[in-house]
Amino acid sequence: MRRPLIAGNWKMNLNRSDAVALAKGLADASTPDEVDVLVCPSNVYLDAVSAAASGSKVALGAQDVYFESNGAFTGETSTDMLSDVGCSHVILGHSERRNVIGEPDELINKKLKATLAAGLTPVLCVGELLEEREAGKTMDVVTAQFDGSLAGVSEADVQKTVIAYEPVWAIGTGKTATPEQAQEVHADLRKLLAERYNQQTADTVRILYGGSVKPDNAAMLMSQPDIDGALVGGASLKVDSFTGIINASVPQAAPCSINKPRS
Ligand code: 13P
Repeated sequence: MRRPLIAGNWKMNLNRSDAVALAKGLADASTPDEVDVLVCPSNVYLDAVSAAASGSKVALGAQDVYFESNGAFTGETSTDMLSDVGCSHVILGHSERRNVIGEPDELINKKLKATLAAGLTPVLCVGELLEEREAGKTMDVVTAQFDGSLAGVSEADVQKTVIAYEPVWAIGTGKTATPEQAQEVHADLRKLLAERYNQQTADTVRILYGGSVKPDNAAMLMSQPDIDGALVGGASLKVDSFTGIINASVPQAAPCSINKPRS
């Protein structure tokens, strides 16, 4: 059984007090025990958010990392630094880094290996542009990103990796993939995991959907057999909408009172 994971990618949003208030609100919220929750603030606020969510089930992730462990890499952040402030996860290969910053798969692959070597969990994003979908190339694009980003990654390590399918045309646009469109790609990704690794790996790896996930579409998306959670942008910036998604991610979520400590 794969545990659902609902991850918030705060991107380059919020100031310090808003980030802390959001983290505190989530730490205090009643959410189902069986759902893992992750927030990924700007690096500038990782420390403050870590303190605000400390002792709760809300895990902390970064939105990117550099692959070298230390040294003269101006502007970059290492895995050690992220661990030091309490991160357990790192988003890698987000479409905004691929398409806006221009990160290639080879660089994402180095970052992913460094993340795993440091004992952190990568959340590897893949997804096609609108024109690629319209040209019928969705799986060609996603397969190339999968192969490039995971080149040389062992079965044991890929089992520790979370994959996020984020169709670029659905990010921040209000246009969500239909549950059927998302499920189709998730099933193909799971097939790819079985082909490149084995069935046990395919059954183990959590595959999240991202792209305009909101409280009112989350339940339909999460009910698909190969969708194991969500990577949420805009709707993760408010306690109510993010907890709405968390609560919608399990069928008939019973409200529960006690948040578990972060392990
Ligand atoms: P939105 O939920 O704002 O569409 O963003 C999705 C995303 O990019 C999460 O990483």
